Amino acid sequence: MISIIVAIADKNNAIGRKGELLCHLPNDLRHFKEITSGSTVIMGKRTFFSLPKHPLPNRRNIVITDITGEQFEGAEAAYSIEDAARLADEKKENFIIGGGMVYKQFMPIADKLYITHIHNVWDDADTFFPEINSNEWQLSAIEHHQADEKNPYDYSFAEYERKKEFIIIKN
Ligand SMILES: NC(=O)c1ccc[n+]([C@@H]2O[C@H](COP(=O)([O-])OP(=O)(O)OC[C@H]3O[C@@H](n4cnc5c(N)ncnc54)[C@H](OP(=O)(O)O)[C@@H]3O)[C@@H](O)[C@H]2O)c1
Repeated sequence: MISIIVAIADKNNAIGRKGELLCHLPNDLRHFKEITSGSTVIMGKRTFFSLPKHPLPNRRNIVITDITGEQFEGAEAAYSIEDAARLADEKKENFIIGGGMVYKQFMPIADKLYITHIHNVWDDADTFFPEINSNEWQLSAIEHHQADEKNPYDYSFAEYERKKEFIIIKN
């Protein structure tokens, strides 16, 4: 199973700026850790190197790069999207954790989306998440949270399942 996990801003689906996240939301980082711990996480090379601590601990890390033969300390390398999908654990949930290039390519084959909707708009973002098409995706859970002294914006944890008629049959 392939799931996508991402934090996106309202209105323009922004996810990043200048190689970094848009903001620091500690509750979202905790949520991300709870959901992905013990699982395989798959990411693009830029996201891997943007992590304050890489590889992510307590997870199997897979990093995608175009540079055949490149290796990453503490992580497995994949040299295409297909290669990464092949390395994924067939019996468990695997998480695509970014960034923009990688989300876009996995969106057509993902089974589930874990989206943190950050209720703020960034006009200076440079990396975006694809549109979540309501013909393809069904909201299955949502939990709203208010900003507080540590988390500067309102946010919602949402889960979307792929609608059955859009399931892509894989060989
Ligand atoms: N809001 C969130 O939840 C979230 C999560 C993660 C990341 N982000 C943000 O997203 C931004 C980074 O995203 P990004 O789009 O710039 O980079 P990215 O997707 O993290 O990584 C791009 C790199 O991955 C490799 N790659 C991608 N597709 C490939 C393919 N089909 N075959 C082989 N290699 C492939 C390439 O590496 P090579 O150049 O080595 O070929 C490419 O340069 C940052 O701002 C980050 O903070 C946000």
